[in-house]
Amino acid sequence: MKALKLLSIVMVFSLMVILSACGTSKTNGSENNSEKKTLKVVSNAEYAPFEYLDKGKIKGFDIDLMEAIAKEAGYKIKIEHVGWDPLFVEIKGKTADLGISAITINEERQQTYDFSTPYFVSTNEILVPKGSNIKNAMDLKNKVVGVQNGTTGQEVVEAILGKNSSNLKKFDSTNLAIMEMKGGGASAVVADNTVVEEYVKNNPQENMVLIKDEVNFEKEFYGLMFPKGSKLKADFDKAITKVIENGTYAKIYKQWFKVDPDLNLLTE
Ligand code: ARG
Repeated sequence: MKALKLLSIVMVFSLMVILSACGTSKTNGSENNSEKKTLKVVSNAEYAPFEYLDKGKIKGFDIDLMEAIAKEAGYKIKIEHVGWDPLFVEIKGKTADLGISAITINEERQQTYDFSTPYFVSTNEILVPKGSNIKNAMDLKNKVVGVQNGTTGQEVVEAILGKNSSNLKKFDSTNLAIMEMKGGGASAVVADNTVVEEYVKNNPQENMVLIKDEVNFEKEFYGLMFPKGSKLKADFDKAITKVIENGTYAKIYKQWFKVDPDLNLLTE
């Protein structure tokens, strides 16, 4: 009886030792994590399939990729839909740590922001109602064209219509520009190819067609956007390279686009 009592005391004691050991290793772990605060990632989630809101939840290729990159880099993140213009304001003012939003890396933005290594290849494309006489980018001249304000779509259209052209209609989102076209207030909308392609695919009853123009619309690369001088860039660049190398990127790409990515395009 006594021996049994002793045994159970020993057992309880050793259990306590084991538990407390687990406890310490756990605290150590979370202490390491808490050194890295949760990063605020901003986005304009009105750009399917890259980022969009589905019953209030933020979803898309960019979102899945961002989660994978952050995990690889060892950061906790919270992705928030703030809108396109606010995204730039927040990153510039450092109220956000970084942005993901199908953001094209270009020289103008590089004056103010830092970008990660590229993670997606894109180009602008023209969306028109079926039967439109617009056949290429040059045909946009003298036409009313809708774009999302402050995008490369606006830039490429301005190059054709002229800056400050009254025929250029700017909206807070590409979806609003498309609505304007549906209502007859614009003859075309210009935005990133994958986005307008997704729109046509999801809305076949709206009878819209796409016009590519590889002569007038150049290839663009998307990157994560950071405040200038951000120390995060190095970690995230490494993580992007890693998720591309280890197949995670291809897996996410295939989930969203149903085909394998051409990884050579990213390194060209
Ligand atoms: N790639 C274009 C640009 O950087 C359009 C991006 C718009 N993104 C969005 N989530 N609305 O200007």
